[in-house]
Amino acid sequence: MLFSGKALSVQMLDNGIAELNFDLQGESVNKFNRLTVTELSQALDAIEAADGVKGVLLTSGKGVFIVGADITEFGGAFSAGPEGIADLMNKNNENINRLEDLPVPTVVAINGYALGGGFEVCLGCDYRVMGDQAKVGLPEVKLGLIPGWGGTVRLPRIVGVDVAAEWIAAGKEQRPDAALTAHAVDAVVPTDKLKDAALKLLGRAIDGELDYQSRREIKKSPIPLNDTEALMAFFTTKAFVGQQAGKNYPSPVAAVTSIEQGYKVGRDEALKIEQEQFIFCAQTGTAKSLVGLFLNDQAIGKVAKGWEKKADKKIERAAVLGAGIMGGGIAYQSAYKGTPIKMKDIAQDGIDLGLKEANKLLSKLVDRGRLTPAKMGEVLNRIEPTLSYDGFGDVDVVVEAVVENPKVKHAVLKEVEGKVSEDTVIASNTSTISIDHLAEPLARPENFLGMHFFNPVHKMPLVEVIRGEKTSDNAIARVVAYANKMGKKAIVVRDCPGFLVNRVLFPYFAGFAMLVRDGADFQAVDKVMERWGWPMGPAYLMDVVGIDTGVHAEKVMAEGFPERMGKTFTAASDVMYEAGRYGQKNDKGFYNYEEDKKGRPKKVATEESYELLKPHVADRRDFEKDEVIERMMVPMATELARCLEEGIVDSPAEADMALIYGIGFPPFRGGIFAWLDSIGLDEFVKMADKYADLGELYQPTERMREMAAKGETYYKSN
Ligand SMILES: NC(=O)c1ccc[n+]([C@@H]2O[C@H](COP(=O)([O-])OP(=O)(O)OC[C@H]3O[C@@H](n4cnc5c(N)ncnc54)[C@H](O)[C@@H]3O)[C@@H](O)[C@H]2O)c1
Repeated sequence: MLFSGKALSVQMLDNGIAELNFDLQGESVNKFNRLTVTELSQALDAIEAADGVKGVLLTSGKGVFIVGADITEFGGAFSAGPEGIADLMNKNNENINRLEDLPVPTVVAINGYALGGGFEVCLGCDYRVMGDQAKVGLPEVKLGLIPGWGGTVRLPRIVGVDVAAEWIAAGKEQRPDAALTAHAVDAVVPTDKLKDAALKLLGRAIDGELDYQSRREIKKSPIPLNDTEALMAFFTTKAFVGQQAGKNYPSPVAAVTSIEQGYKVGRDEALKIEQEQFIFCAQTGTAKSLVGLFLNDQAIGKVAKGWEKKADKKIERAAVLGAGIMGGGIAYQSAYKGTPIKMKDIAQDGIDLGLKEANKLLSKLVDRGRLTPAKMGEVLNRIEPTLSYDGFGDVDVVVEAVVENPKVKHAVLKEVEGKVSEDTVIASNTSTISIDHLAEPLARPENFLGMHFFNPVHKMPLVEVIRGEKTSDNAIARVVAYANKMGKKAIVVRDCPGFLVNRVLFPYFAGFAMLVRDGADFQAVDKVMERWGWPMGPAYLMDVVGIDTGVHAEKVMAEGFPERMGKTFTAASDVMYEAGRYGQKNDKGFYNYEEDKKGRPKKVATEESYELLKPHVADRRDFEKDEVIERMMVPMATELARCLEEGIVDSPAEADMALIYGIGFPPFRGGIFAWLDSIGLDEFVKMADKYADLGELYQPTERMREMAAKGETYYKSN
C-alpha cells in the first residue's frame, strides 16, 4: 500500500501500475470534501516519491465515481470572501494539475456518476474509460456557480469550445453515448469489464503505443482558434446562453466568459481566469440561494426517507377515486413509477378522459425515445379503470380526487371506508377543505389524511401531506412512502384551510386584487412579478389555475380566516367569474387564449377584461415597480411566517421548498424565508408598515417584529 487514508488509498498492482481508489469511509458516495482533497494531495506525494510507478489508474470503491464537491462546505468558505473561496478551490486545482503533470500516463475508470469536481478530476487524466451505466457532467450552474477545478479549461480543450459551452451552461448530466460522441471519454464498456478495459488502455500508454504526452500538451496549451472563429463561437453562444438563463442566473454566461477569456492562454493562466469567474459567481445572491436550496432539498429528502422507514408496509397497490384532471394525473404517475392503481369514477366519460390523458403523456415519451412502446404498454396495464369498488379490499392506499365539494367528499369517503380493509390509508387530494372536517363521518380517522398534489401532477414536484388531528403516524408514513415512490417531494404539514401552499397563495392573490382595485393594470402587475422571478404573474396564474376554482377557494379561505382574508370589495377575479371568464379552460379569463403553432394555449391581451373591470376599479394609474412587488409579497410572507409560528409547517426550509416546488417561487431567491433574511426583517417590517392601511394581511406578526428588533434571521447560517 503506497497510501492509506479515510477517503482514498493507493496500492501497487502488477506491472508498476498504481491504483488510486476513492472510497470515502462512513459515506454512501464519494465527494470532494476537505478530507478527500487533503488525502489526494498526500496520495500524489506518495506516488511521486515511489520507485517504479509506470502508470496510474483511478477507480472508485463505491457505486458512483465522485458526485462532486461537498456542498455543505460551501457556505462557510463563501462567506469568508474571495480569499476564503480561493482557498477552498486552490488545493484541489493543485492536485489535478499534479495528476496531469505526473511523469507517467493516467487512466480513470468511471464506474458511476462523475459530476462536477468528480468529472474535473477525470478531465485531468490522460484517458477516460466509462461504464455503460455511468453519467458525467458539470452541473455547477445549477448552484449558481461555474466549474472551479478546471472544468472550463480542460473540457473545451478536449471536446471543443461549442460542446463544452453547451454542456457547462446547461449543467446537464451526460449519458455514455453522448460522452463518447463528444470525445469526452475514450471508450464505453459494460461496468463489469470496466477495470480490465481501463488497465488495458493504461498498458498501451505505458508501452508507448498511445501517445499520452501529446494529449497533455493539448490540454495545457491555448485553444487553436483564429479570431473570426472565436468571435463566431463566443458571441452567439453568450447571447443564446444569456437569453436562456435570464438576468437572475448569471453563472452560465460567466462559464462561457471563462472559456472565452481563457482560450488564448495556457492552462495555468486559464485556471486563474476560471477562478476569477468562480469567485464572482460564488458571491452572488443567486449562488447563495441555490446552494441553500440544494441543502434544503437534501434536508427534506432526509425527513421524507425517515417517514418512509416508519411505514408498517410498502405500498404495493393503490386506488384513486375520480378520474378527472387530478385523478387521471395521479393514476398516470403512480403507474409510471411502478405502483399498480385502480382508477374509479362514477362516469365512463371520466374514465375515458383519465386514460386518454395517460396515453397522451406516455406517447410523448415514446415519441421522444424516452420510453419503448412495450414499456408504455406495461405502464398502461398498471392502470385499472373501474366503475366499481371490486378489489378495493386489497389496496394499501386510496387517494380521493373527486369534486371539491365537502358534501360529496363526505359521502365518497364514508363509502370507500366501507370497502377497504381496516388498515388501508385513505388520503384526500382536496386543495382547501380542512382534513379534520373531512374526517368527521369516518369510523377510522386515524387512517385518514391529506395528500395534496399540484396540477399538472406529472410535472409538479410537491405533494403536501396533511396531518389531521387524529391522523396516525403510520398513515403519514405510508403516504410519504407512496409519494417518494412516485418521485415526488413530500412535505408534511398540519391541517388548516388551504394547508400551507394555498394558505399563503391566496393572500398573494388578495394583494393582487387590491392593486387592481386601486387602479393598477393587471398586465403591468404580471410583468413586474415575472421580472421579479415568478414563472407567471398573478393574473396569468389565476387564468391557468381556473378563475372558478380560484374564486371557490378564495371563499373557503375567507371563511377560514375572515379577519384577514374576508372580502370587503368585488375582486377582479369575481368580475371575471361573473362574466363566465374561467381562464385558460374556456379560453378567456383576464386574457384571451388562442392556440399557438404547437397547439398550446397562448395568451393574448383583450380590451374586454378592462371594460368589465372598469365599474369596479379606480382610474388607471401607474404604480412604481417596488410598490407592486411589496404589495404582492408582504401578504404572502406574513402569512407564511404565521404558518411557521402556528406549527402548520415545521421549519423555514420545508416552507421555502414547498413554495418553490408547489408554485414556482423564484429559486434564485432561495424561498420566502431566505428572501426575508436577505433583505433583513427590520427592513421588511418597515416595508409592511407602509401599507398598514391595506388591512390585516399587511401586519407582520409580533414574533416578526421581535425578531426584527433583535436582528434575528430565519436561517441560522446567515
Ligand atoms: N385541478 C386542480 O388544479 C387541482 C389541484 C390540486 C387539487 N385539486 C383537487 O382535486 C380534486 C379533483 O379535482 P379535479 O380538478 O381533478 O376535478 P375534475 O372535475 O376534473 O374531476 C373530478 C372527477 O371526479 C369524478 N367523481 C365525482 N364524484 C365521484 C364519485 N362519487 N366517485 C368517483 N368519482 C367521482 C367526476 O366524474 C370527475 O371525473 C378536487 O378536490 C380539487 O380541489 C385540484
